[in-house]
Amino acid sequence: MTDDIVYSAIIDEHYQEPRNFGKIENPDEHIMETNPTCGDTIAMYVRIGEGRIKEIKYVAKGCSISVASASILSENVEGKPIENVLGMTKEDILGNLGLKLGPAREKCALLSYDALIKMIKDFKSRNPQ
Ligand code: FES
Repeated sequence: MTDDIVYSAIIDEHYQEPRNFGKIENPDEHIMETNPTCGDTIAMYVRIGEGRIKEIKYVAKGCSISVASASILSENVEGKPIENVLGMTKEDILGNLGLKLGPAREKCALLSYDALIKMIKDFKSRNPQ
């Protein structure tokens, strides 16, 4: 069994049973992000308190990589300080998937990350320390 097969199984598992899928009523921030190359979308919602991601949910309409990446991201950031989340790199996100992706598929994998970073920056600009 190769690593690719293992990681493909992880993507498939998150795609079949995405974690934290859904909406948050009255979130602190929400955003709709579109992948310009395919038109697929993700709506993302967060509740932020004491400088941490208290809750994160999303509704993704996209390919298996975009949904799985959002699912893995949501698990990884829930409870984390927002400054730590801002310190995450695109390479961290792509590394979680464990697959070498081409540029088009990287956009799929980074859709949720881009949405989350924009929301945190918006939150910080509205709530300066
Ligand atoms: Fe549209 Fe992947 S093909 S998000």
